[in-house]
Amino acid sequence: MTPHPNLTLISHPLIRHKMSLLRDVDTPKKLFRELVTEISMLMAYETTRGLPDEETRVTTPLEEMTGYRIAGKKLVLVPILRAGLGMVEGVLRLIPTARVGHVGIARDEESLQPVEYYFNVPPHPEVHRFVVLDPMLATGGSASAAIAGLKARGATSIMLMCLVSAPEGLRAMAAAHPDVQVFAAALDRQLNERGYIVPGLGDAGDRLFGTL
Ligand code: PRP
Ligand code: URA
Repeated sequence: MTPHPNLTLISHPLIRHKMSLLRDVDTPKKLFRELVTEISMLMAYETTRGLPDEETRVTTPLEEMTGYRIAGKKLVLVPILRAGLGMVEGVLRLIPTARVGHVGIARDEESLQPVEYYFNVPPHPEVHRFVVLDPMLATGGSASAAIAGLKARGATSIMLMCLVSAPEGLRAMAAAHPDVQVFAAALDRQLNERGYIVPGLGDAGDRLFGTL
């Protein structure tokens, strides 16, 4: 249990193990990328637990039976550039038919305010279910801005999947978007004076793309 009703903490031994490797300052970028993919894939299993399904007829080699298929709104993954890109492959491994939109947001290192530079999602957002992907929820500014952009275009069904969340970001998300559930692999202690999550894992984009 956490004091954040908008947080679903996905705490599985495999995820905890991989998150600890991910956080390690000595983990090289090849392994870092592989871990982000693996953790995202494991998280996708839990994040999609509540999706509706419906009965469908299946013919096995022996007889007809009632099976199931996912129903309702079609899924769209929306990585927040850059670091969210690292999570796409893992989620697509479980949901290969999902569409992928892109939102470019960079955090101004001085003001910590989000600056949007790209927005491209499939038409008719109202008929889709969006899963916003970003490894880090720090102040929550970037995720809030991305979600506000989706809502402004008509989206009504949105989830946020991140690897590391901070209490500050969760509170900001609850205030700005109380309808959006946050799925995270970890809830860390706090932000430091530079807006980094501690203990955290450092700058996720830099570690993924080798721009340290
Ligand atoms: C990082 C991270 C989030 C954001 C989190 O991206 O991937 O998008 O910061 O911080 P916030 O919750 O305080 O907004 P960054 O802006 O460094 O861009 P990058 O992914 O291109 O490195
Ligand atoms: N962005 C990151 O990549 N890491 C943090 O700790 C905070 C914001």
